[in-house]
Amino acid sequence: MEALQNLFGLSGRTAIITGASRGLGRAAAIALNGAGANVILIGRDSASLEETRTLLSDPKRSKIFEADVTNDDLRKKIIADVTRDCGKIDILINNAGIIRRDPALEYSEKDWDEVIETNLSSVFHWSQDAAKEMMKTGGGKIINIASVLSFSGGVNVVAYAAAKGGVAQLTKALANEWAKHNINVNAIAPGYFETNATSALRKNPERSAQILSRIPAGRFGDPNELAGAFIFLASSASDYMHGHIMTVDGGFNGW
Ligand SMILES: NC(=O)c1ccc[n+]([C@@H]2O[C@H](COP(=O)([O-])OP(=O)(O)OC[C@H]3O[C@@H](n4cnc5c(N)ncnc54)[C@H](OP(=O)(O)O)[C@@H]3O)[C@@H](O)[C@H]2O)c1
Repeated sequence: MEALQNLFGLSGRTAIITGASRGLGRAAAIALNGAGANVILIGRDSASLEETRTLLSDPKRSKIFEADVTNDDLRKKIIADVTRDCGKIDILINNAGIIRRDPALEYSEKDWDEVIETNLSSVFHWSQDAAKEMMKTGGGKIINIASVLSFSGGVNVVAYAAAKGGVAQLTKALANEWAKHNINVNAIAPGYFETNATSALRKNPERSAQILSRIPAGRFGDPNELAGAFIFLASSASDYMHGHIMTVDGGFNGW
């Protein structure tokens, strides 16, 4: 048991999780807190972050920051506050993300900019600022949330697919530069999970059947089924993994 604790336990470690107010980010917070970590929950709505807090095994080991991940000043303040209060940042999960659907010909500049800024640029900015602190304290773990649309284009989601493709490449590029500083940069590429982001698809019987026909597991994923992947990539068990994009997708056969 002690050997397993050493390998997968996160006691005494501090994890920042963006987009922790629901969905996959909430599942990450529950998993990491359950494995012993202090979790810093970030999102734009403190009421739903509070809801996440009530689901943690030890809510005392959590802190909430209401912030938009694209806000540079708030990001810098959060990184500074967490470093000061917790002594170090061990884990960063870049999970916050949005999706806007429209055919490419009609896709608005506003939607393009917001999706790229939230899903790709902010991942770089948070990683860069967190890595500077991690380097001072001996290393850390950065886990980016990619997507099966990191590998294929999808339909009517041009900005999302471009951003998630970028997240996969960003993960590999940062891993190449930061592995020597004991920073593991990896990503999880989820398939289709039951969250707000997929509720429109899941409610549409035709789209839902199309998607399920490509998932050998025959069902959408429960966000809590990502717990093992989150804990593995956040823990010492993954110390020799760098630049890996781990799919957790029920065996999804893309398009
Ligand atoms: N669900 C899936 O099947 C699936 C598949 C592949 C990849 N993903 C990725 O997984 C991540 C989580 O998605 P989800 O399905 O859990 O979606 P979700 O239920 O819509 O949750 C998105 C989270 O991101 C936060 N967020 C969005 N924009 C933000 C911003 N500008 N600043 C701060 N927080 C922001 C939201 O919080 P507030 O709105 O309260 O701020 C919320 O906590 C995303 O990166 C998504 O692309 C999901």
